[in-house]
Amino acid sequence: MPNARAPGRVNLIGDHTDYNAGRALPMAVDVGTTATFEPAPIASLQLSSDAFTEVATIPVDVDPDPRQLGALEPAWARLAAAVVALARPATGGSVRISSTLPIGAGLSSSAALAVALACVLGVEGPPIVVARLCQQAEHLVGAPVGLLDPLTSAGARAGHALLVDFATLTTRDVPLTEAVDVVVADSGDHRSLREAGYAARVAECEAAAAVVGPLGLAGPDDVVGLRDPLLRRRARHVVTECARVDAVVAALAAGDLAGAGALLVESHRSLADDFEVSTPAVDAAVAALLACPGVHGARLTGGGFGGSVVALAEPGAVGTTVSVGGRPRSVWHLRPAAGCLRPSPP
Ligand code: GLA
Repeated sequence: MPNARAPGRVNLIGDHTDYNAGRALPMAVDVGTTATFEPAPIASLQLSSDAFTEVATIPVDVDPDPRQLGALEPAWARLAAAVVALARPATGGSVRISSTLPIGAGLSSSAALAVALACVLGVEGPPIVVARLCQQAEHLVGAPVGLLDPLTSAGARAGHALLVDFATLTTRDVPLTEAVDVVVADSGDHRSLREAGYAARVAECEAAAAVVGPLGLAGPDDVVGLRDPLLRRRARHVVTECARVDAVVAALAAGDLAGAGALLVESHRSLADDFEVSTPAVDAAVAALLACPGVHGARLTGGGFGGSVVALAEPGAVGTTVSVGGRPRSVWHLRPAAGCLRPSPP
């Protein structure tokens, strides 16, 4: 029975840069989603998941129309249906989804699901081809996301972070030393405003790009030239964030973990002040991690408006929970894993 396993991801630095032709440094993590496909001579896919009780029936020729996909029940299967609509499997059958990704941890469970499903249904090609299909599926169900999550889930290399240049769609494997513990903490803030807020930031960046061109290719002078103060702040985040991605890659290559950590802290300030995607709970989670001796740096990771925080720490510096505003919050210690399409040699 064919199966495909796609990892979640955590973004070490470079947020809200992917849809701006900028740069980011994510890594695939050692928890993920597996899709197991049992083909049968029928015209639909029976989709079941460990996480949900309702089974979804998706015609193999399901219409990629966003309105129809948005009305599909059960709701958990809408993204999967969009992947099916684009993958156009030759046959139906049953697909079982199981996941070790912690729910709500901001480790991109939706990209892991989309990549695992696309691969098990026979979508072929390099990681960027699979990632584009998964991104398009997200767009069909109303999430105007970039390529960061599916490209990492498909194309990262074990033991490495993945430096992605979204202007050229080229990637470079960046080795991660065992001397650094990649820690993710849940802020406890899972607000539904996330989707509206994310779409608003995409639109603001588009408005700025209409004046100065793609923000990931812009420089400080372009930012100063923007007359609208809000667009200027948004653009300043993207321009400075891309520079920080390059600086973190250099710091890691030099073994300068303190330097890399300081850049994560700067990134958080930029995401909170200029890009305005942090929340009090996320700020508190960053502060709680930074207060632990041996933490090099911490920042919001992913889309923001709640969600998770990533830190680089000395092994052993952070436990399995961290107290945020007097409440214990879950902490995950993650290792850089292989993408779905780059399995490690046995
Ligand atoms: C979400 C999106 C990504 C990316 C990040 C922010 O995770 O899915 O495409 O834009 O937010 O960096």
